[in-house]
Amino acid sequence: MEKQTTIASSCLFLLYITTFTVAEVLEAHHHLHQHNIHGSVKLFVFGDSYVDTGNIRKSVSPSWKEPYGITFPGKPAGRGSGGRGPPRFLASFLGIRSPVPYALRKFVKKSKLESGMNFAFGGTGVFDTLVSGPNLTTQIDFFEQLLQQKVYAKNDVVKSSIALVSVAGNDYAAHFGRPGNDTK
Ligand SMILES: *[C@@H]1O[C@H](CO)[C@@H](O)[C@H](O)[C@H]1NC(C)=O
Repeated sequence: MEKQTTIASSCLFLLYITTFTVAEVLEAHHHLHQHNIHGSVKLFVFGDSYVDTGNIRKSVSPSWKEPYGITFPGKPAGRGSGGRGPPRFLASFLGIRSPVPYALRKFVKKSKLESGMNFAFGGTGVFDTLVSGPNLTTQIDFFEQLLQQKVYAKNDVVKSSIALVSVAGNDYAAHFGRPGNDTK
């Protein structure tokens, strides 16, 4: 019972965050458009497979194999969503590139980090799930480490950036996947 209450309240909390994020995006669009001209808007993505664009390791995910990726980008690339997916749509709405996956940050040109970064890992949740990967807290820690390392300037981030957070249900799957928590 206590566990259910905890899960229910975290879901409400997440719903709140999601609603808040959507509202913020709409409101911020207008303001950000001006920053955009100078190329300073950044998109930071956190969460699970719905928005993971290539962080998850090949050894733990089928998203590096067909049919993943056949609609976009044309071959498997570790992207958990079919088609272009939310980060790319939101980025194009903001007039910037889709943010680079965190796992690739050291392998891309520095200029590609300017549009932000994607910290989402498929299979993860707010809590630890059945898939090993950084939970939401750890993803946010990764982001904070980059701020400390001055990869992103705190001022820029505060002034003109958007966070996209996806929590699509792996916490539920993990809850029911544990012994004693059957779905009946
Ligand atoms: C998230 O992961 C960290 C590192 O493994 C762990 O210490 C922490 O307890 C986890 N948080 C939750 C809410 O499960």
